[in-house]
Amino acid sequence: MTTSNEQTVAGVLATSMRDLLCGALRPEHVGQQVRVCGWVARRREHGEHLAFIDLRDRSGIVQCVVDGSVDLRSEYVVQVTGTVRPRPEGTLNETIATGAVEIGDCKVEVLAAAEPPPFGLEDRSEVDEQIRLRYRYLDLRRPRMQRNLRIRAAVNRALRAAMDRQGFVEVETPILWAPTPEGAREFAVPSRLHHGSFYVLPQSPQLAKQLLMVGGIDRYYQIARCMRDEDLRADRQFEFTQLDLEASFVTQDDVMAFVSEAVLDAAEVATGVRPGAIPRMTWHEAMDRFGVDKPDLRVEIELTDLSETFQDSEVRAFSAPVVKALRIPDGATFTRSKLDTLTEKAKSLGAQGLAWFRVQDDGSLDSPLDRFLADTERAAIVERSHAQAGDLVLIVADEWRRAVEVLGALRAQLLSPPVGEGEPRYVWVMDFPMFDGVDADGNPISAHHPFTMPHPDDFELMKTDPLKARSQAYDLVLNGWELGSGSVRIHRPDLQSEVFRALGISEEDAEQRFGFLLGAFRHGAPPHAGFAFGIDRLVAIFTGADTIREVIAFPKTQSGTDLMTQAPSTISNSALLELGIRTIPKES
Ligand code: AMO
Repeated sequence: MTTSNEQTVAGVLATSMRDLLCGALRPEHVGQQVRVCGWVARRREHGEHLAFIDLRDRSGIVQCVVDGSVDLRSEYVVQVTGTVRPRPEGTLNETIATGAVEIGDCKVEVLAAAEPPPFGLEDRSEVDEQIRLRYRYLDLRRPRMQRNLRIRAAVNRALRAAMDRQGFVEVETPILWAPTPEGAREFAVPSRLHHGSFYVLPQSPQLAKQLLMVGGIDRYYQIARCMRDEDLRADRQFEFTQLDLEASFVTQDDVMAFVSEAVLDAAEVATGVRPGAIPRMTWHEAMDRFGVDKPDLRVEIELTDLSETFQDSEVRAFSAPVVKALRIPDGATFTRSKLDTLTEKAKSLGAQGLAWFRVQDDGSLDSPLDRFLADTERAAIVERSHAQAGDLVLIVADEWRRAVEVLGALRAQLLSPPVGEGEPRYVWVMDFPMFDGVDADGNPISAHHPFTMPHPDDFELMKTDPLKARSQAYDLVLNGWELGSGSVRIHRPDLQSEVFRALGISEEDAEQRFGFLLGAFRHGAPPHAGFAFGIDRLVAIFTGADTIREVIAFPKTQSGTDLMTQAPSTISNSALLELGIRTIPKES
């Protein structure tokens, strides 16, 4: 990380209790009398006359030498006063930045005692995550967490600067709000003044920011906390933070340019390297080449199309509209049980089955299906997928969408490195479909959200075959993670009603749920578009973390609890009464 901010504030960090930070001491300070404050990371006594203290603060560690014994334990909070001197020859420590010096003749004042910590606070000690989260305030003292949170702060700073530079106005939107139809389950907050009524915590500031456009703000942004009651995973928390933005009188190209500028600035600040221009591809291309709408471009291998080869084939398993193949380098060593597990996974994703071919040293194929293949088919499998001896070729024959999605999932599972590894690869994915399948009642489901503008070439399709219509929605993808989404919005009330109708939302229902938005649109809404991306995800990748919990000060566990505060917890009967709430125990 560029620590320029850290260096500029080094002077500012001097206080009435300390002159400088522990990690800042260098040979240039030799001879100076200094006061430093921090936690005792380690203490060694050499008889009764000499004690060494490794003192830690936010900047690092410095060795302090006391002539005499000290009554100190690990994690005591102390103020040390002494004189900076070179370390004696042969005792230099090159593993720390202050390793050429030490503070000698130290006087130590204990500012607070501490119980022994339940785990080692060095980065190298492997600690169970449950314990780390239980004692997060101690975990935060570890250098890795200190670094992650500081990178996060630097990213926020860069994002704000980029948005300010581009003329965006930071506006805070309500946390106590009304439902927004963005697909996730929402958290509700009971109203004390209106029993039986609830506020809803925002899944995102989506509707508020559209109203800001009607309000003439023109360019809005916010580092916004969002709340979604969904299943937690490595890249999902109940609470997360978006860089959220919206602009008027713009096209999707304008929005993509605003976002690229902010993300590339943040990348430069966090990693020291400014990535090149972000490439673009359509949703259809992403699905066809990589089998997902969030392709991991660090993996060069793409799906291959063998549909033509098997068009008139005798092989029954391959008689389907589309036949797609995926090469797994060195996969010929996969055991039968591993191949069975992959087949099960393919089936769980809806495929009829998964065909596999091990490429032998002599170029022949080892597979239960081999004996059904014509020579030309055998050759095509190897050549079209660029397979070498020792590789494995997986084939799925199905409808296009299912064939690519199944192989896309296997590509991600078998070929993608951990998300924070390797050179970051960004890609814009555009022209998403307007709808993604249908719900149990046969109504189309919005692929992005119901405020998304159809693709200009597909207005007619919206009426005749809405499931085939494309939208003006776009995603930003990094290393196979969806970083963010956005779209051009519908700003005409008639078109918005048409989309609600297509979604099976009745006029009455729409008026009741989003009447305020439709009403606002009737007062002159500018054409507008926007975007939001997950700051947690971006910072996790920048710091090389494999979950966003590593870049959040106080995250929840996978099961949604806070191990430190024990939230969620019960509240008193009197508080429930005041809110007009009677609880029903959960059935086990
Ligand atoms: P979307 O729902 O795609 O779009 O969310 C945008 C980005 O927010 C992040 N994100 C999350 N991060 C952590 N935990 C979660 N539970 C979580 N859910 C979402 C992701 C995601 O890409 N209002 C629209 C944006 C717009 O159209 O302007 C929206 O919120 O990085």
